[in-house]
Amino acid sequence: MAKTIGILTGGGDSAAINMAIKAIVKRLAQGGFRAVGIKDGWKGLVEGATCELTLPDVEEIWSLSGTILGTSRTNPFKTGDAQKVVDNSKSLGLDGLIALGGDDTLGVAGRLAEFGLQVIGIPQTIDNDVYGTDYCLGFDTAVQMTVQAIQQVRSSNISHAADMLIEVMGRDTGWIAATAAMLVGADYFMIPELPVNFDEVSRIIKQRRATGARASLVLVAEGIKIPENRRLSETVDAFGNIALAGISYTVATELRARSGRELRVVVLSYLQRGGFPTVHDLIMATRMGVTAAELIMVGRSGSMVCLHGSEITTISLPDIVGRRRSVPADFIELARSMIV
Ligand code: F6P
Repeated sequence: MAKTIGILTGGGDSAAINMAIKAIVKRLAQGGFRAVGIKDGWKGLVEGATCELTLPDVEEIWSLSGTILGTSRTNPFKTGDAQKVVDNSKSLGLDGLIALGGDDTLGVAGRLAEFGLQVIGIPQTIDNDVYGTDYCLGFDTAVQMTVQAIQQVRSSNISHAADMLIEVMGRDTGWIAATAAMLVGADYFMIPELPVNFDEVSRIIKQRRATGARASLVLVAEGIKIPENRRLSETVDAFGNIALAGISYTVATELRARSGRELRVVVLSYLQRGGFPTVHDLIMATRMGVTAAELIMVGRSGSMVCLHGSEITTISLPDIVGRRRSVPADFIELARSMIV
């Protein structure tokens, strides 16, 4: 009986997951291993919900955004199901598991590895902020979509002499906002790594207008910390994350109070999860998927595949628990140097 490996996708999705699933299934098949899909992240292992994953099942999925397995924000440690997950893995006949996700999903994998689960992690989140890797699957396509959206709205802003806030995802870090602002030459970016200073934003917009600029552009990461948090929703998920989208309407109110001028607001939100995956994301998904499959086939466990420079290597999964990769000062300075 061929050894069986489970594949699980948890947390926020992106456009690079299905390519990784295809690469994993193909490499496992080449090694004589069977692949089984776990439905809807950790929820699928709590409930024993699986599906066969054969080569015909994955041949055509490489360009599809989302995840054919479904995802969830189920946290088995929150629901007291950690041991059940390990037990179900055994009863499902899994000889190992490959988990794709962000810090929440991989944090669970790191803790379950200490319960004896044979697991290899792959960093996947458009936020690009998993600790220990230079890249997370999905980030490049999310930024591609963001800069295209900005380009699409720019001509209207200039035509109408309208200032605009573009809100992007980024719960705890500002990788998408800082990167997109740098690439399009925005006038300012607001990210969780930096203190919010409405007076500074307002002053810069006024200065630009005084020098004849017709349309200022500010990128806002949805996770910025403002004192009077007036969020659209106060519901939280199993990892304690609240729904963040819409903070830019509060920013617009603060800026309008200072300048008397209306600002346009566009919230890209879930649009950043979809789209045709970029070649960079497809290549990274292939390299990380193949490496994860090769590691699990030789019995490795408790590691996360990661990118260091141009090399694919590994980091201990328990080492990432409770840690995150914020936008560093040198990248903030680089981004700022492109927007002054
Ligand atoms: O996966 C990370 C992320 O995209 C964050 O940037 C965003 O705040 C969050 O997911 C949204 O989560 P959900 O899809 O559960 O609403």
